[in-house]
This record gives sequence, structure tokens and C-alpha cells, in this order.
Amino acid sequence: MDRRRFLSASSLMLAGLAASDGGLAAAAGGTGVRLRAGVLRKKLPEIAVPASFWGYNGESPGPQLRYRKGERLQVDLENTLTQGTTLHWHGLRVPHAMDGVPHVSQPPVQKGESFRYEFELKDSGTFWYHPHQKSFEQVGRGMCGALIVEEEKPIEIDRELVWVLNDFQIDPASGEHRPFGLIAEHATKGRWGNVITVNGTSVAAGRSESVRAGERVRLRLINAATARVFKLDFSAGEPRVIAYDGQAVPPAPLANDDRIFGPGMRLDLVLDLMLPPGGVLDIADANSRQVLGRLVCSAEAPLRGVPLAAPIALTPNERLRPNLNKATFHNIDFLGGDAGPPVIGTVDGRPIAYSDMKSKYGLAWTVNSHAAIEEAHHHEPLLSFTRGKTYVITMTNQTGFDHPMHLHGHFFRVLSLNGEKLKQEIWRDTVMLTPWSEVVIALVAEEQGDWMFHCHVLEHAAAGMMAVIRVE
Ligand code: C2O
Ligand code: CU
Repeated sequence: MDRRRFLSASSLMLAGLAASDGGLAAAAGGTGVRLRAGVLRKKLPEIAVPASFWGYNGESPGPQLRYRKGERLQVDLENTLTQGTTLHWHGLRVPHAMDGVPHVSQPPVQKGESFRYEFELKDSGTFWYHPHQKSFEQVGRGMCGALIVEEEKPIEIDRELVWVLNDFQIDPASGEHRPFGLIAEHATKGRWGNVITVNGTSVAAGRSESVRAGERVRLRLINAATARVFKLDFSAGEPRVIAYDGQAVPPAPLANDDRIFGPGMRLDLVLDLMLPPGGVLDIADANSRQVLGRLVCSAEAPLRGVPLAAPIALTPNERLRPNLNKATFHNIDFLGGDAGPPVIGTVDGRPIAYSDMKSKYGLAWTVNSHAAIEEAHHHEPLLSFTRGKTYVITMTNQTGFDHPMHLHGHFFRVLSLNGEKLKQEIWRDTVMLTPWSEVVIALVAEEQGDWMFHCHVLEHAAAGMMAVIRVE
């Protein structure tokens, strides 16, 4: 156990905090962290034989990485897989060379090679890591992990739970993942699986966390599925949101729209367990009608009879405030998919018919009539931004599918949804565009580089729904 890990362990114990799996057990931080990408097998209740996964250090999800804001992350990625891979630090503002996008920010790390990621953690919050090479397959086979950056001034809680939600399509007899890269998946809602997991264990096994009545719980949710959209449902209690995608918001009850939890997104919730001893709180997914996990209060007397009085508002990360009076405006339209109108797009600058996009290139979506090929070693930027300037982007989803749109290297302010101005100041790195919707965001171009802007339904990204925003 290295020093940092020991310190976290002891300080958590001093604070009387409990940590379950996906919590302290797997936590690592400080320097000298090694993530070895490789193959593993594990038993799932609905699969007859041990199922095959790809992960890190023999685990899927990989170890939870845990730091404090301002610390340096230093991680050596080692690759034992037969295909190249990278690590992308989803939601973090990192120097471009550390962004983990193959051919754009670094060459892929091939079998037997390693790569050191090192940068300062400017932001606190709930983040995650995953490969950016053939991510629809690599994430689809289980490569991901939680990355928690603790606030300088943590809020007072009794317990923290980190849940990495995932979804896999596994053949129940062979334990192998069904074939990847099918256009039927890429051109529709993406690959929705048959096995939903939380922290790597199937929800069919019935996750139950034992808690104590009266506790204040911080629940950090991460949707690491390639395509599945969850609709969160709490059987009791009044969850309050304290952060979206790691970015603090004034605490507020979880609104209906925010129950829609798309790939790439994170949600930090505070739950005051005002339940009797033995009481139960189910956290379910209304879309799949499955319980993701259950919090079960012990028979002990409640820890307290009224909710903890301590405030739950987090200190926001430093944000470059958009200057809306001096903004440059852009429109980005998304088209395509099986249910959308036929579109003519360009691939590598050449116009092609939608039917050829599908059959010849495996592409199904366009961003402003352009489709990017993931394996391309070069992407012409969709937009070019100047550092320090404000940009307002109106995104229009002209398709019948959900698209959680993600921008690297920045977080942006969500100004409006379907023409309705948001009353609250909400910052995100991934925003959900429901079918036929319009979302307006604003941001200040920050760090130099070519930053990926793509749908986090990873099958959509692989099928063209991806672009580069250049910051100079
Ligand atoms: Cu979480 Cu470009 O990805
Ligand atoms: Cu999409």
C-alpha cells in the first residue's frame, strides 16, 4: 500500500466513512499507478460459462483512481491486447498531448508498449477513463474505470457510493460478446446489451448495499455503457443533484429530465436516508425495468432522526465565463440513422450518397453533412476557435435517436433546451440531445489543440458522428 493510499484509507476511517466495493477497496492514486490493459473472465449469473471481458489489471471496470484536486495524475498504461489502445480522461481539462485520442493526440499504444499519462488535476468531480481507440468495441468489452477527484473542501457525508453503470451484449451460452461493428447497431440506437452491470457485477445478481437509516449518502453515478440510456428511478427519498458531469450546481431535487442518463454522463446525488431501520431504497432503471441496486438499512436505530444539517453545495471548479455579448455563433446539425431522412454527406471531402456511406464506409450519421472516419489519421476541423473567445453553438438533432454529445478538453454551459432557457447555471461535458431536439451551449475556447466532439453512443461515433474542434 503506498503512502497516499494509506492516508486516504486512514482519513476515511477517521471520518467514520464507510466505503463499499468500487469504493476504497479498489482505489488507487498518487504516482506509480499502472493500468495494464488485458483480457479477463468473470462469472455472471445470466451467463452459463465465465464471460470474457477486457479491462485493466484483471478487473472490469478497472481500478477506481482517486485523487484530490490540484494533485498530479501519473498513470502508466501498458497494453497486453492484440489491438492498439489509449486512455482518455473523460471530462477532465488536460493538456492536449494527454487527451488519449489515437492519431490526433498520440499514436495508439500497441501490444507490449506503454505510455505515461501525466497532468495536473485542475478540476474536482466525478470523471472516468476509457480508451479512445475502437471505443465501441473496447468500451463495449468492459474497458473503463472511475476517476474521482475530491474537492479541496469536501462536503460532509456519512457514506459515498461510486456506481459505474455498464451494459454488455454477451452470448449466454458461450460467454463471448456478440460481434461488434454491425451497421444495424451503428445506424440505430447503438448496441443495447442483455447484461446490465454496476461496478462489474450483474444487476441480475441483486446488488445490495447495507447502510444505516438516517445516513447522508453521496452517490456518484457514471454511465459507461456504449449506448444504453438509463432512466433513473428512486423508490424512496428525495435525491438532490449536486453536480452534473462533475460540475457543481446549487443543490436541487432531481428533475424529471435529469433522470434520463445517457452514455458518458455523470451525476452526483445526495440522499438523506430518512427511512426506518430495515427500510429499503431501490434505485432502478425505468427503461429496462431493472433494479440497479438496493440500499438496505440495518436494524440499528437511525443515525439521526432529521437530515444532517451540513450544507451539500460543492465549490464550483474555476470556469471561464462565456461573454455572450461578444460571442461567435455556430449551428451544428446532426442527420442520419435508419429513421432519419437520406442525406448526402462528405467523407474525406468527397460527397457520397447515404447508401454508399453505409455499405462502403459503415457510416450512418453526419455532422453538418460531414462524416468522420475513426481510423483516419487526420480530421479537417469542423470549427476553428481562438483561445479565450466565446462561442455559442446551437445543436440540432434531426434524427429520431438520442445523442449524448461530448466535447473534449472543455466543459460548456448549457443555455437552453428546445428553446427554453435554463434558469439554473448548468455546466457539462456531455449533453443529451433527445430525438428532434435543439440544445444551445456556450463555452470559452480554452486549451490549444484539436478536440474531439462526438456522440457518446460509441457506435454512432464510429459511424460518422464525430468531428474535431480546433483551438488555436
Ligand atoms: Cu468519453 Cu471522446 O470520450
Ligand atoms: Cu448518437
